[in-house]
Amino acid sequence: MDAIFTRTSVRSYEDKPVEAEKIQKILRAAMAAPSAMNQQPWEFYVVTDKNALQELSQASPYTGMVAGAPVAIAVCGRTENLPVPDLVQVDLSLATENILLEIEAQGLGGVMLGIAPFADRMERVARILDLPENLEAFTVVPFGYPAKKNPQQDRYDEQRVHYIK
Ligand SMILES: Cc1cc2nc3c(=O)[nH]c(=O)nc-3n(C[C@H](O)[C@H](O)[C@H](O)COP(=O)(O)O)c2cc1C
Repeated sequence: MDAIFTRTSVRSYEDKPVEAEKIQKILRAAMAAPSAMNQQPWEFYVVTDKNALQELSQASPYTGMVAGAPVAIAVCGRTENLPVPDLVQVDLSLATENILLEIEAQGLGGVMLGIAPFADRMERVARILDLPENLEAFTVVPFGYPAKKNPQQDRYDEQRVHYIK
């Protein structure tokens, strides 16, 4: 799969909207992720409102690029009625990786931002998006047509591989 080996984090974007079909394909990829006991704990908030993007850019000291993105997806997790609540963040991580790979496959660029498990960041995102009580913010992924993208470096390291024969 090429996208795995070409994806890098993109933090600056062209001033150009992302087509609705591309956003939908990215969401479809997110929901194709595996999850513990297939619990699918996710809800996705697609943000294109400039004011909301501006506010999300202040969710942490490291989220400033959101203000310049045409769109961001906030990945959120349910907190109730889950067969395996301890694995919600694992499930949401897998959905987020699918989002990042489909962004890349669509010729776009994006970056995962650290929101959970930091309570202050999670609360800020919840307030901006007006999340219901039973949802928690996990991450925000701003994306768009890349204005600048670094090539991927090969990180393969034989020393990190251990064979038990
Ligand atoms: C859990 C997680 C949190 C991250 N949080 C941020 C962030 O807050 N701001 C940011 O600019 N990048 C963030 N990143 C992106 C990483 O900095 C990036 O993935 C890493 O430097 C490797 O670069 P690459 O994605 O281009 O391969 C985060 C990545 C992960 C997986």
